[in-house]
Amino acid sequence: MSGAVPHIVQYQGSKRNLAPQILQYMPTKFNRLIEPFAGMAAITIAVAKQRRAQRYIVNDLNEPLVRILNEAIETPDTLVDSYSKVWNEQFSYPEGSIAHFYKIREDFNGGDKCAANMLYLLARCVKGSVRYSNNGMFNQSPDKRRNGTSPKNIASNVTNISSFLKGHVEFMSKDYREVLQLAQPGDIIYMDPPYQGVCSRKDSRYFSGIDFADFVEAIEKLNQKGIDYIISYDGSCGDKKYGTDLPEDLGLKKILLKAGFSSQSILLGKKELTYEALYISKNLQESVPFQNNQLPVFD
Ligand SMILES: C[S@@+](CC[C@H](N)C(=O)[O-])C[C@H]1O[C@@H](n2cnc3c(N)ncnc32)[C@H](O)[C@@H]1O
Repeated sequence: MSGAVPHIVQYQGSKRNLAPQILQYMPTKFNRLIEPFAGMAAITIAVAKQRRAQRYIVNDLNEPLVRILNEAIETPDTLVDSYSKVWNEQFSYPEGSIAHFYKIREDFNGGDKCAANMLYLLARCVKGSVRYSNNGMFNQSPDKRRNGTSPKNIASNVTNISSFLKGHVEFMSKDYREVLQLAQPGDIIYMDPPYQGVCSRKDSRYFSGIDFADFVEAIEKLNQKGIDYIISYDGSCGDKKYGTDLPEDLGLKKILLKAGFSSQSILLGKKELTYEALYISKNLQESVPFQNNQLPVFD
């Protein structure tokens, strides 16, 4: 892949850095990519940059995230204008820029969930990590050392992304199971559900957790319909493993992608590599670069 995958804004759990590895397991040309757990849609963006699919479905249960993606792709100038207004306000806000973040967060929780407000919260909050309270209120704090991505950078990111996705995407905000029902043979589905290692039913890092048994049932249905998919699921760090493997009878191939060094282990002076598991559906296994059934190694 030439050059880094562009992104709109930081998002914790983004697959932007892993996209080149993940795309190796997808055909070079296919009909439609479906991303039911899109987040900031790193894989959709990477696939579209290479013009591999003709059409895209981008879905996330967290509706304001989808609003950002929709405006960034379809009306990037409008998003940049409204984001600039919110972002610039922090410098003239009487109580200062940190207080401004809390004011926008209050507006957002009070119901003003426009794309610009969500984008500002993401751009300014700690590590781009969205967190919600049990009653659904955005409760992440601002990163006090940064003012958030500048409108100039947002403008250059969204103009670029819009140039290869505009007019090709259907945007949705539904539970992933409803979106999977739309899949047809010839589509590729990329699924990146909230991590098991850090969530049970409810994961405050994301909008919701998902139930393991429900997820397995949804995958079984895809197998019955002969639909191809790739799943990012769980991970491991050193000899610690997070999450449960997907059942063997689903017929999936599990690959471990090198995801870099764990920042926590570096702090402890251990420098442990982290891996992210990728599961590949049956048909895709025939067309991808497995060597003698070995786990591929990426440097
Ligand atoms: C690991 S993140 C995806 C990150 C994404 N791959 C990226 O590159 O930005 C998982 C996403 O699933 C969404 N989600 C959680 N439960 C969901 C559900 N039941 N249906 C659809 N999306 C859901 C969360 O809002 C979150 O954005």
